Order: sequence, then structure tokens, then C-alpha cells
Amino acid sequence: MSSEEAYALYYDLLYSHRDVAREVDFLERVFSQCSQVGVRRVLDVGCGTGIHSVELARRGYEVLGVDLSQKMIEVAREKSRAAGVTGVYFLQADATRLEFEEEFYVVMAMYGVISYFTRDENLLELLRSLRRALKKGGVFVFYTWNLTGVLSKRVFYETPSTSIRKSGSMLAIKEEVWRVDALDQVAHAEIKWSIVDLVRGSVDFFDHRLDLRIFTVRELVHVLRETGFAPCAAYEDYEMRPLTEGSSELVIVARAV
Ligand SMILES: C[S@@+](CC[C@H](N)C(=O)[O-])C[C@H]1O[C@@H](n2cnc3c(N)ncnc32)[C@H](O)[C@@H]1O
Repeated sequence: MSSEEAYALYYDLLYSHRDVAREVDFLERVFSQCSQVGVRRVLDVGCGTGIHSVELARRGYEVLGVDLSQKMIEVAREKSRAAGVTGVYFLQADATRLEFEEEFYVVMAMYGVISYFTRDENLLELLRSLRRALKKGGVFVFYTWNLTGVLSKRVFYETPSTSIRKSGSMLAIKEEVWRVDALDQVAHAEIKWSIVDLVRGSVDFFDHRLDLRIFTVRELVHVLRETGFAPCAAYEDYEMRPLTEGSSELVIVARAV
């Protein structure tokens, strides 16, 4: 199994600490706060295993999840089948090359998706592609990292660290080392995962390399305006706390103009 496949297969275990229902409560609040066209069809970009797509469909939205990773899409499809939800579809696609024309009321890119676009040209391609897919007055919401908070809190530690997460009979052991390039605003990670199945008594190992762009709010506002969006609201988390320079994470809500 490739590391990309293992990441998709174990994704929900690796992030089992997340409170998805609460995240989706937040999304519903910002949809109604910023949309001028109501909300019916949602595009979940970089949907991963469909964490938000499935929950939104359960709440009555029609959702399309797209992800570059075929394995993520397979896991998402299987999850929606197992949950018995309808109105949710998954498509393997590169989000910079979508061919939708004003078909969605909401586009969302949650949990650092836009940080995968470390090159300016790619980021602009992505935003233009998402803007095309969105109806005028519709909402774009995304979650990523805030440079000032990341640097001041030293979020991506440069000394190696180890952490353990347990979910049911599964353990995920994470050994990570990060290097932050402050000029490029990119955090480079080398992560080693050990997945222990306590019932079967087996262990799976895989490595995960990540390059994540960390943003200043000002540059995000600039690229949003350049690509046809107007900022609507900014928060530091899913609890709707206001964004400050000390916030290491940020959620920005913008409207298509
Ligand atoms: C950290 S995961 C986030 C998954 C999910 N949104 C969540 O909240 O857990 C980032 C996802 O973005 C996807 N991705 C990266 N580049 C992409 C691209 N060009 N087009 C579509 N998806 C992409 C990755 O495959 C990965 O599944």
C-alpha cells in the first residue's frame, strides 16, 4: 500500500479527535450569515474521506465532494454508502481544473486544503476555478493556518515530537518533525505514522511528507479580491471566536461578487 493510500485509509482514525457535528454546525451558521442566494448545492473541495460532505447530506444538503486522491474518494463513497445517506456524490478531480459554471451555492475547502497550493500560480488557478463554480452571491468558506499565530505560538515545532491518539481498539502513533521556511511561508513536515490494531495485534507503518503554505490574512484578502470574492467574515476557529494576530488557525468566509 502506498503512503497516499494508507493516509486515506486511516484518515478518520488520525483525526478522530475532531468534532464533525460541531464543525458542520459552524458551517451552517456561516452559510446563512454570508450567502445572498440561499444554500442548496454544496461543493466540498479537497473533501478527503467526506467528513463534512456526509454530515451535510445527512442534514439535507445536496453535496459534491471532489478530491485529487482516488483513494480518498473511494473511502468517502464507501462511508456514505455505509451511512445510508443520499444526495452526496464524490468525484476524483483536480480542483484547479473544475469545469462547473455557477452551479453551487457554497464552495468549501476545509482543514488546510488551500495550504496544499504552495505556489502562487496554483493558488490563483484554484481560486479562479472555485469562483467559476460558485453562483454570484454564494459563499466560499475555507480553513487554514495564520502565519503570525503559527510563528508566535511555534505551532509547527522544529524539534521532533511524538503523540498518540486512541480510537476504539486502534492506536495512531505520530512522530513528526517540521521545518518552517518563513520567507516562503511554507511548513515542511516529515511524519511517521504507526497504526496499531489492539484486537488483531498488528501494526502498519507509513510515512507522510507534507508542504503546507501558511498565510497572512492580508495576502488572503488580496488574492480573494483578485479572483472575484469579497471577504465576509473571519474567525479563529469553529467556535466563531474572532480572528486575532495570535490565532494559529483561521476560517475565512467570502462571497462571490
Ligand atoms: C487535509 S485534507 C482535508 C480533508 C477534508 N476537507 C477535511 O476537512 O478533513 C486535504 C485534502 O486536499 C486534497 N487535495 C490536495 N490538492 C488537491 C487538488 N489539487 N484538488 C483536489 N483536492 C486536493 C488532498 O488529497 C486531501 O485529501
